[in-house]
Amino acid sequence: MKLDEVQTLDHEFVMPTYHRMQVAFERGEGARLFDVEGRDYIDFGSGIGVNSVGYGNPRMINVLCEQAQKLIHTSNLFYIPNQALLAQKLIKLSRMDMNVFFANSGAEANEAMIKLARKYGEIRFPKKRYKIITLQSSFHGRTLATLKATGQEAYHKYFAPFPDGFVIAQNLQDVYQKIDDETCGVMIELIQGEGGICALPQDEVRELAAFLRQHQILLLVDEVQSGVYRTGEFLASHLYGIQPDLISLAKGMGGGITIGAVMSAHKNVFVAGDHGSTFGGNPLSSRVALEVLEILEEEYHSKKLQAKIELFEERLEGLLKRSDIFLKKVGRGLMCGLEARDTQIQQTVISQALCAGVVVLRSGRNVVRFLPPLTISECEIDEGFERLHLLACLDE
Ligand SMILES: Cc1ncc(COP(=O)(O)O)c(C=O)c1O
Repeated sequence: MKLDEVQTLDHEFVMPTYHRMQVAFERGEGARLFDVEGRDYIDFGSGIGVNSVGYGNPRMINVLCEQAQKLIHTSNLFYIPNQALLAQKLIKLSRMDMNVFFANSGAEANEAMIKLARKYGEIRFPKKRYKIITLQSSFHGRTLATLKATGQEAYHKYFAPFPDGFVIAQNLQDVYQKIDDETCGVMIELIQGEGGICALPQDEVRELAAFLRQHQILLLVDEVQSGVYRTGEFLASHLYGIQPDLISLAKGMGGGITIGAVMSAHKNVFVAGDHGSTFGGNPLSSRVALEVLEILEEEYHSKKLQAKIELFEERLEGLLKRSDIFLKKVGRGLMCGLEARDTQIQQTVISQALCAGVVVLRSGRNVVRFLPPLTISECEIDEGFERLHLLACLDE
């Protein structure tokens, strides 16, 4: 199908909820995408951090096909061997004493996390605690509760009334001012993915984590974007040296198959009937996620991931030096970006990059975001940056 045919159908039959770029992709290989016209692109976006093992990864495809032939779905009314194995793997990689609930997306994982924190707030204290404090530039999802938890007001227009009990703090210092005797949890992204690839200060996060522990208030860490080796460690929490009470994951965990998870250090809060999902952690998604984790664990232990992170950082520094349209490099590992001088430049870079055959993403008001597949090769990194160096806007 040609691009204009896709566009005609899309405009007629799909709700126009997205600002789409003028491209439709047909297939991918490694970190390279091909559009319906056959043009190729180096993918530094990986479907917003989802395609963690790239396109057509033979190990992922093999288990996907094998499992699809055996059993795709049963429901959580029955034991699911792949789900149990996946939970065991997540806990091993997290190096934390936790258990897991499986969902299908980031927002759903966060919903589960919020519900668990609320139940904790009810059963742990004599007077029910239900408030959750979140940060101003955060993004936690599009359901009503996760939207309200999202601190960016722009997302709230039209959709009130929201579930009660979300309190927005300006920054980590302000969290202390917002805590009261109804607070059950504080929910943060260690590196704000949609809010400009903004890494929270490590010392402040560690201080807050210690304070919350002392006061038995839960620390909820949204690792939907930062988790599963994106920052160079399995969890950004590892990078920060903290042990949250609850952690949510999604995106890169399934390599493109929809799955989300919440890990909880409070293993007995949820009991049968408290929460559920028809699809969450079904035999197919669990099997694929388990393989994705194994592939990425090998990349990590062989130090290949670290080598790529270093090369990527070097290449980003090169772009930063090449042009004064960028102010600084932001982020950690392969969750990184270049802060542009303004929104206009950010948009120009993204659209010129696409024309030059490189997919990059926006984040916040002025950041050009890079979330390449974690299995990207050094040649693909170099080729992507060679293409970026040719952008006309760099010389303006
Ligand atoms: C940190 C964070 N949390 C939650 C979400 C929502 O995830 P989903 O779109 O899978 O519901 C996102 C999506 O971008 C995210 O970056």
